[in-house]
Amino acid sequence: LFNNLQLLPPDALFNIKQRLSTDSRPVKVDLGIGAYRDDNGKPWVLPSVREAEKLIQQDPDYNHEYLGIAGLTSLTQGAVKVLLGQDSPALKEDRVVSVQSLSGTGALHMAASFFTKFCKDKLVYLSDPTWANHNAIFETMGLKTASYPYWNAASKSLDLEGYLNAIKTAPQGSIFVLHACAHNPTGLDPNEEQWAKILKAIVEQDHIVLFDSAYQGFASGDLNKDAFAVRLGLEMLADSAPVIICQSFAKNVGMYGERAGCFHLVLPRQDASVDTEHVKASVKSQLAKITRSELSNPPAYGAKIVATVLNNPELTKQWHADMVTMSSRIIKMRHQLRDSLVSLKTPGNWDHIVGQTGMFSYTGLSAEMVQRLEKEHAVYLVSSGRASIAGLNSGNVEYVAKAINEVVNY
Ligand code: LMR
Repeated sequence: LFNNLQLLPPDALFNIKQRLSTDSRPVKVDLGIGAYRDDNGKPWVLPSVREAEKLIQQDPDYNHEYLGIAGLTSLTQGAVKVLLGQDSPALKEDRVVSVQSLSGTGALHMAASFFTKFCKDKLVYLSDPTWANHNAIFETMGLKTASYPYWNAASKSLDLEGYLNAIKTAPQGSIFVLHACAHNPTGLDPNEEQWAKILKAIVEQDHIVLFDSAYQGFASGDLNKDAFAVRLGLEMLADSAPVIICQSFAKNVGMYGERAGCFHLVLPRQDASVDTEHVKASVKSQLAKITRSELSNPPAYGAKIVATVLNNPELTKQWHADMVTMSSRIIKMRHQLRDSLVSLKTPGNWDHIVGQTGMFSYTGLSAEMVQRLEKEHAVYLVSSGRASIAGLNSGNVEYVAKAINEVVNY
């Protein structure tokens, strides 16, 4: 059993957390993993979540029973409206299958299982760069991945031409994984005009779109604005191809460790020869089989919290305000970091830090600079130069700017 067993390196991202926890220096800054911190550098339980937890525990029927295999219906039904909007044609036409997943990773894994079963020869296209786990999830399931150009390192902007070209030259009917908003790791999203071009090219090639929606609300603070790409994609693909959406509540409800999320599959409008109800029921039965064999049924506690937030109008209102609190603090930190670097006269242009969106900034710092930041200044970020801006606060932003200035200059 153990003859061919290799020792694998630790996960690069989670290992940052590990190194940081054993660092005994008095001042250390965690810009590694994407998790929101408040201005004191502490994890933040959203006020809407605190209220939801109280309501759940006061419920006389409070229990820890199993959920159904497809998860909590009040979660999946509330969640799909957050993404698609109350007036979504796909919802009105009843073309959506939604099931609960183990957060975004579980939803992606569910998509990968589904592809493995029903279209295993399709290539899965991922942005270059993308969230490291994307490759791992699809490749572990035996799917072949390819990448599409995304980030132009020289101009720190979108390589739209390369992106469109990859869409056009990919085998027809390939799978394109698109970050719904707040692209991880670059913090760079296409603008509305660019999205329209990207989606038009996808429609023309009959590709299948998988939106990874892990940061809705983090880009602009407005859940509707941040659903722009998903909603445009659904509109443009409504008569041609299914769309899959993997939805995480790890960040926007702060359910990191609770693993609350959903998998949605939106069917295109079918002609009268197709029995849509039968297709939907079949999809749902296949998803149920995947869930039953892998986790039996999804975790309940985080799902109940999110469902309570989404279905109680007062709490929904509070949640929207919580999103604004988080996203506006991050934007403020972006400005403070950029301004400090400018006033220190740090060589280079740092405007991309404020131009980027969501939790991350692709700083442009080299792997060597990142290493020095950690070793000499106890400032931790990913070797690609990705910094989680949520880890900055009014107490450490100046320190970080000075540390960056030092490694860039000397
Ligand atoms: C991140 O990219 O930092 C987060 O999405 C956390 C994770 O699970 O990788």
